[in-house]
Amino acid sequence: MTVQAPLPLLDRWLREAEQSGVPEPRSVAFVTVGDGGQPSARTVLLKRVEDEALVFTSALWTRKARELDGNDHVALLFWWPTVGRQVHVAGRALLAERELAVELFAERELSRQVQTLVSRQGEPLEDLEPLRARHAHLMDVLETPPECPPDWGAIRVIPDAVEFWTQATDHLHDRLLYERADTGWRLTRLSP
Ligand SMILES: Cc1cc2nc3c(=O)[nH]c(=O)nc-3n(C[C@H](O)[C@H](O)[C@H](O)COP(=O)(O)O)c2cc1C
Repeated sequence: MTVQAPLPLLDRWLREAEQSGVPEPRSVAFVTVGDGGQPSARTVLLKRVEDEALVFTSALWTRKARELDGNDHVALLFWWPTVGRQVHVAGRALLAERELAVELFAERELSRQVQTLVSRQGEPLEDLEPLRARHAHLMDVLETPPECPPDWGAIRVIPDAVEFWTQATDHLHDRLLYERADTGWRLTRLSP
């Protein structure tokens, strides 16, 4: 039996979450693994669902980007409480082509573009005020949107496994696990 690839279903669930009014349905926990096997998690905003990959953006000097350099195994976890759905994605991450980063940077609102310029996200900081002043100054004087910084990029996650979880009122939740197989995808239903 041919099993459909899972990302079109994830795309449909995202749109259904949006239509149901789930707040920030594209916010997703992104987990990397650092030196010594220590996992770390943070929220990112999903920008694209491609046929074979999920895409978000990040500054490339950050902890998540550094950890990806050493270990490309990652996980993503969506939870949409008001529709009772969760999706877990496990796979590999890689830096997307520069053109995609440039395109996605251009889509950011100006204030966020400027935030990327003024803040070295994750670096220690004594005081936020100088950053605020620089942000406000650039918002005043910039006549054209800034260019995508060279150390800012798009990350593509290629799934090896995607689990779709649907809440049931009797707690016998439905769990459908798609796993990459030699010639396509294997589908297994898991006990709740
Ligand atoms: C709703 C939400 C969306 C976010 N989206 C992103 C994003 O798309 N990319 C990103 O790098 N950080 C995003 N952040 C900030 C990250 O959660 C995190 O603080 C930052 O990327 C630094 O993480 P790191 O030091 O582990 O790399 C978001 C935070 C929230 C709460």
